Amino acid sequence: MVERVTADLPALKGRSVVSLMEWTPEEIRQLLKTAQWMKANRNVVETRNLLSGKHVALLFELPSTRTRVSFQVALGSLGAEMVWMDWGSTQLGRGESLEDTARVLSRYVDGIVVRAKKHETVQVLRRFTTIPVFNALTDRAHPFQVLADALTISEEFGGCSEIKLSYLGDGNNMAHSYLVIGAKLGMHVTIATPKGYGPSPEVVKWARAESAMTGGSVTITDDPEQAVFGADVVATDVFVSMGDEGDTDNKRILMQKFQVNDKLMALAKSQAIFLHCLPAHRGEEVTGSVIDGLQSKVWDQAENRLWVQKSTLAHVLAD
Ligand code: CP
Repeated sequence: MVERVTADLPALKGRSVVSLMEWTPEEIRQLLKTAQWMKANRNVVETRNLLSGKHVALLFELPSTRTRVSFQVALGSLGAEMVWMDWGSTQLGRGESLEDTARVLSRYVDGIVVRAKKHETVQVLRRFTTIPVFNALTDRAHPFQVLADALTISEEFGGCSEIKLSYLGDGNNMAHSYLVIGAKLGMHVTIATPKGYGPSPEVVKWARAESAMTGGSVTITDDPEQAVFGADVVATDVFVSMGDEGDTDNKRILMQKFQVNDKLMALAKSQAIFLHCLPAHRGEEVTGSVIDGLQSKVWDQAENRLWVQKSTLAHVLAD
C-alpha cells in the first residue's frame, strides 16, 4: 500500500522540506493522507523495509526531545539507519563550513534532518547537498510540527479547510508555520501577539496572497479575546523560544494577557481543541487546567510528529 502511495506521487521523491511554502496543497494533503494511513495500519509489514539500506543524518544545533526521538523511530520503523550528529562534537563546532559539511554528507547519507538556530543554515545545507534536507526547526519555520498539527486537526474535524485556528503568544517560527500551512489548506488563521512581537510582514503578505487562492484568511491582532472568539483550534507556544533569550523579562510581562486559560478557552467554540507543540511552561503561556484538560490534544499532536515524518520520509526517500 505505501509502495503504491509513494509511486502515485513521484514528484515528492528527492524533495527537501525546508519550508511548506514550497509544497502545493495537494502534496501536503498527500503527506497527511499517507500519515493517516500509516497510523491506522501501524503494524502492517510492508512499510518495515521501505527505506532498507538508507542512512539519514540528524544534525542538531539545539536541544530536542520529540523531534529527535520521533525521527529516529520513524527511520528505524521504515528500515533506515539514523546517524546522530551532535553539532558541537562535529567539525562544525570547530569552524568547518556548512558548505563543506553539506558536500561531504552527500557522499555518505541519503538525507539530512537538521535543527538550526538560523533558517539560513538549512538553506545553505540544501544548496550544497545533493540529497534531501528536512527542516527540524529553525527560527523561521517548524514544518513537521504544523504537519502534525494539521493531522491532529483533521482527526478531530475531518479536515482543515475552513477551520478557524487562533494562535496566541510570540510571532515566532510556530506563528509563521501556522500562517503557511493555514494558507495552503484553506484555514482561517488568526495570530494574536503583543505589539512589536508580531510575525514577519513578508510571511503575512505571502500567506494573505496564498489564502486568497485556497479560501483561507489571515488576521493579525493584539487582542487575545477577539482572536479566540469562535475558534475551532486554540494554539500557543513558549513565550521565549530557544536561541531567543534576550529581553526575556519584559517580553514575559507583555505576553501575560496572551496566556491560554479557562477564561480565554470559553470564548472559543464549545468543541474547540487546544494545541501546544511542547515543551510547555504551565502557568506561563498556558494554565495546567487547559493543557491537562479535556479540550487538550497535545499528546495526540506529539504522537502525530511520528506519523507525518514517517510519511514524508517514505515519500521522499523510497526508491
Ligand atoms: N515540538 C518540538 O519540536 O519538540 P522538541 O523541541 O522536543 O523536538
